[in-house]
Amino acid sequence: MSLEAILSRLDSDQNDARNRLLEFLAIPSISTDPDYKAEVRRAAEWLRDALIDLGADAELRVTPGHPMVTGRTNGEGRPLLFYGHYDVQPVDPLELWHRDPFDPAIEDDVIRGRGAADDKGQLMTFIEALRAWKSERGTLPNITFLFEGEEESGSPSLVPFLKEHKSELTRDLALICDTGLYAKDRPGIVTQLRGLLGEEIVVRGASKDLHSGSFGGIAQNPIRVLARIVASLHDATGRVTIPGFYEGVPELTDELRAQWDALTFDGPGFLSGVGLSAPAGESDRTALEHIWSRPTAEVNGIRGGYAGKGFKTVLPAEAAAKISFRLVGNQDPLAIRDSFRAMVREMIPEDCTVEFHDHGAGPASHMDTSDPAFEAARQALGQEWPHEAAYIGAGGSIPVAGYFQSILGMDSMLIGFGRDNDQIHSPNEKYDLKSFHLGARSWARILDAIS
Ligand code: BES
Ligand code: MN
Repeated sequence: MSLEAILSRLDSDQNDARNRLLEFLAIPSISTDPDYKAEVRRAAEWLRDALIDLGADAELRVTPGHPMVTGRTNGEGRPLLFYGHYDVQPVDPLELWHRDPFDPAIEDDVIRGRGAADDKGQLMTFIEALRAWKSERGTLPNITFLFEGEEESGSPSLVPFLKEHKSELTRDLALICDTGLYAKDRPGIVTQLRGLLGEEIVVRGASKDLHSGSFGGIAQNPIRVLARIVASLHDATGRVTIPGFYEGVPELTDELRAQWDALTFDGPGFLSGVGLSAPAGESDRTALEHIWSRPTAEVNGIRGGYAGKGFKTVLPAEAAAKISFRLVGNQDPLAIRDSFRAMVREMIPEDCTVEFHDHGAGPASHMDTSDPAFEAARQALGQEWPHEAAYIGAGGSIPVAGYFQSILGMDSMLIGFGRDNDQIHSPNEKYDLKSFHLGARSWARILDAIS
């Protein structure tokens, strides 16, 4: 049967496809919170059953953490691996949601609920494409599936799993649906992802909290020490001050700069969409460079002392901060961790101590687009969407793409249909129905072109 028949099937099946996604979204698979362990497993089982329903073999695979879901079609054609994650971020602050995050619903032209865009709705675009393919052609392309349940909590089981099942998982190319469109109506293929280093520092002073009148001024205040450290991470021009931080950070090639300039990215619009107006980063960089190709150091959380209702005059015994670094090019996460820790230790005065907690470290990754599948997929996307697809970067990190390269020797084609206003990791997450539907149609076209 023709590709047109598959696309028409996707059109006529939209309502059922939405209902399947709503069912999946109702399972609260929050991987970072141990209270949800059974729910994470239930989501894995749901997904396994969806693959079996499709006519694939599928099973849950035990790991020290949440299970992996793997599967395999016995289809023809080029062997491809599809990766997605079925876990979601926590929902807090819950009071800012205008509906229960796990009672998802269609609201106008979006589907709202935790995980709608990251990543349940996106991975379902691929499964729906295969479902329609199977109905019309009776067979499936040659796909191996890998679905992870720990992506949003640092993927602790991923590397050992890839190493152990290397031959089963190594295919010609990986397909990943966990990124965004370049712009409304314009898809993108992500060819470079930033790496991520997560560090938590805990500064301690006195053996207990103290009265800030009796002890203030004479005793060390860990919040002051921590604030000095945090404030010293950047200089006045927005550059990160950690020694050696910029080693391995490449300048854009003329070719890439021209390619990105041609995208005419709306930097002011990007900021105004979230109530901002002035870029706060390195003063001499464009908006796209900031998001796609410059490294960052950002404080993601800070605690210490009394921040509850009212007021309390206290000098706390402890203060802590969680800091993430986005890495690019050949920056070495472990060297940066060492240098960061050394710099922090230098700033710890007598009577204070510091403790470090490691929250993961992975390098940036770059895809080689010379495989003809990339250009074929770009053409296929251009047939589906109003504007042609662009090769783009991404601000977020998808460490698995780097591990596919370093452990399995396999590049990834990163194609996703999310939008900047999907509110991933934030209250009121949604996925546009258009992304869901055209996403599924896009995968049908892409698979038809490359498999
Ligand atoms: N899907 C996101 C990554 C993403 C976000 C790609 C936006 C492109 C645009 C992914 O699930 C994610 O959130 N990754 C984490 C890293 C992980 C190690 C916690 C991230 O980027 O913070
Ligand atoms: Mn994701």
